Amino acid sequence: MTAILEPDVGHLAIVQTMLHGSVAFKSFEDLNAHIAASPHEFAVVIGPTVDVDAATAFAKWARISRPDLGVILLRRTVDHDVLTTALRSGMREVVEANDLAGITTAVHRARSVASEIAKTIEVEAQAAASSAMAQAKADVAAAQAAADMPQGKVLTVFSTKGGVGKSLIATNTAVALSDAGHNVCLIDLDVNSGDVAIMLQLTPARTINDLVAFNGMIDEVALESILTRHSKRLAIVAAPVRLDSPDHATAVDIGTMIDTLKGMFDYVVVDTSGVFDDNALTALDRTDTIVLVATLDIPALKGLKLATGTLDLLNFPRDTWKFVLNRADGKVGLTTDEFESTVGLKADISLVSSREVLSAVNRGEALVRAYPSHPNSKAIVAFAHSFTNVDATQSEGHKVSGGRLRLRRG
Ligand SMILES: Nc1ncnc2c1ncn2[C@@H]1O[C@H](COP(=O)(O)OP(=O)(O)OP(=O)(O)O)[C@@H](O)[C@H]1O
Ligand SMILES: [Mg+2]
Repeated sequence: MTAILEPDVGHLAIVQTMLHGSVAFKSFEDLNAHIAASPHEFAVVIGPTVDVDAATAFAKWARISRPDLGVILLRRTVDHDVLTTALRSGMREVVEANDLAGITTAVHRARSVASEIAKTIEVEAQAAASSAMAQAKADVAAAQAAADMPQGKVLTVFSTKGGVGKSLIATNTAVALSDAGHNVCLIDLDVNSGDVAIMLQLTPARTINDLVAFNGMIDEVALESILTRHSKRLAIVAAPVRLDSPDHATAVDIGTMIDTLKGMFDYVVVDTSGVFDDNALTALDRTDTIVLVATLDIPALKGLKLATGTLDLLNFPRDTWKFVLNRADGKVGLTTDEFESTVGLKADISLVSSREVLSAVNRGEALVRAYPSHPNSKAIVAFAHSFTNVDATQSEGHKVSGGRLRLRRG
């Protein structure tokens, strides 16, 4: 259809005879209402008696809001000024009012341009739809690839009593796993008095508190920059070396760090502080195996009872726990059997009290390397290998947090 704007009845009659099926309007108000209601209108012919400024204002609007609408201006005479003003405003053509053949041709051209524009819009819409579809497919594939990425196992060494040998077990298990050819990251989560770095004679340039600088953007590149290398296969995230550090890694940062490290290493071994704080719970939530440590004495027994009771309450499944009984040879009036039956746990390994342990610690060497044939070293190496054997036979790891019902923490 074509819309004609011409208040003069005489002029209108002439134009209308040339444009069959057109609709006529006497004011811009009526024309605008028609255009708004007719999205497929393709041409507007503005008659010779309509003010040129009002006509150019309409053409400017149409150029932006309805680029498919061809605006054709009729003038009694077409001089250079009219032509320039009209074309600058976005008018498609300017035709002399008595050139009836020219008016018809201009309207036909407007129809063809409108149909070309409609086709282009359709093609662009189809291209946008298929690019959105391709993007959605790529997103699904990326999510699938992330889900399929091998995930390292997390072992968290825990007790609610200090000084029972957590750091000894954590460092030596990590070293034994790396010596067995696995890539291992050892995290010292004892942020107030962690000594993993000292036990391995390392001087960390950056520590866990440097996570704060990443403002939550903790990815592999960020983590590489805070790792301290012990060897090709063993890296550590060291505990802060200064207690007055203004920055303190949050539990959220620590959670993201562990999740990311799982994508970078075969094993992530976490040494904890001996307190059920947010940091420990963040690690436990992501843990495949909880390694509980106690020494053969009454305070440690009491501490272990407290730890197991709380882990039970928080629904950490018992089949993901391992128990290491340290200093199991102590003559303290308590036997291993009595200890095990009281806590309801069987020791997976027992370690003896030994001077070599202290000697290795003081030299900043892992016991399993300094004294490989020591019974404690053999026990820890066998313990470490038990994880790799299980992992080799189980394609699907048993996540502590998978489907576990957690109680709300206050
Ligand atoms: N079997 C052992 N024989 C001799 N010394 C040991 C033995 N196990 C641990 N120790 C010594 O006891 C001390 C405490 O051990 P470790 O630091 O591993 O315990 P921890 O549970 O990590 O302590 P904390 O809670 O303070 O972090 C260390 O000096 C360590 O060398
Ligand atoms: Mg420790």
